[in-house]
Amino acid sequence: MATVIDGKALSKEIRAQVKDQVPALEKKYGKTPHLVVVLVGEDPASQSYVRAKERACERAGIRSTKLTKDPSISEEELINLVKSLNEDPDVHGILVQLPLPDHIDANKVIDTIEQKKDVDGFHPLNIAALQIGTPGVLPATPKGIMTMLESINVDLQGKKALIVGRSNIVGKPIAQLLLRKHATVTIAHSRTKDLKKECLDADVIIAAVGRAKMITGDMIKEGAVVIDVGVNRVDGKLIGDVDFESAKEKASFITPVPGGVGPMTIASLLQNTLECFEVLESK
Ligand code: GUN
Repeated sequence: MATVIDGKALSKEIRAQVKDQVPALEKKYGKTPHLVVVLVGEDPASQSYVRAKERACERAGIRSTKLTKDPSISEEELINLVKSLNEDPDVHGILVQLPLPDHIDANKVIDTIEQKKDVDGFHPLNIAALQIGTPGVLPATPKGIMTMLESINVDLQGKKALIVGRSNIVGKPIAQLLLRKHATVTIAHSRTKDLKKECLDADVIIAAVGRAKMITGDMIKEGAVVIDVGVNRVDGKLIGDVDFESAKEKASFITPVPGGVGPMTIASLLQNTLECFEVLESK
């Protein structure tokens, strides 16, 4: 029977650490760290994520501003908004909530964000830094996953880590972070021939595929560590990519949904906001 990794509790600890750091930073630089979140449109999931991010900032003593834009905003207007935030010395983090409406090229918008204010770690220069291993902002979800793995003291060296899903936000960056820890990394995706075989071979499974309960207990090696990044809404309920009930019988450690990776993403975002603040203000 697996030990459940309590993302909610770990996130609370990290958010408390962030909160403790803020007064000293304010004193040192004479400013309060300030995150600006840009929300385009009224997607209910995005609204809920943004609300959670704002609330977490407020509780940690980080200033946050939400800019809500009509979904009819043009790509050029949105890019100009980002440019004005880049130039504002009182803004330390810029987060443009994704997805954006179809008429806007999200990559162009992300490319416009000043690298040092890219709290999401989505800018190509931050992605390059992640790949090369030079200093940069780490994307929040992969960073939160690594914090969870560190919390259980799992030695990743030489272990087989399987990532199910190849998104830019989770799959690809978590592969880099696991490689840094010397894991042997495989990325599986929708065209993978025998997913069950790949899963059964893995010491660590990161499920980030976006399909409810796709990974079941019979696909998990006894004692594997299972991290569930899935947030699938089924009949109004949040369901992970892992079938928790059957998986917990096989895994040594497992993350729940909700209360696992989700809260860690927010904690990492706060850490990133402080990091961006320090980099910008210490210049
Ligand atoms: N949409 C879903 N997850 C994220 C995230 O981590 N950052 C942004 N900007 N948008 C998202």
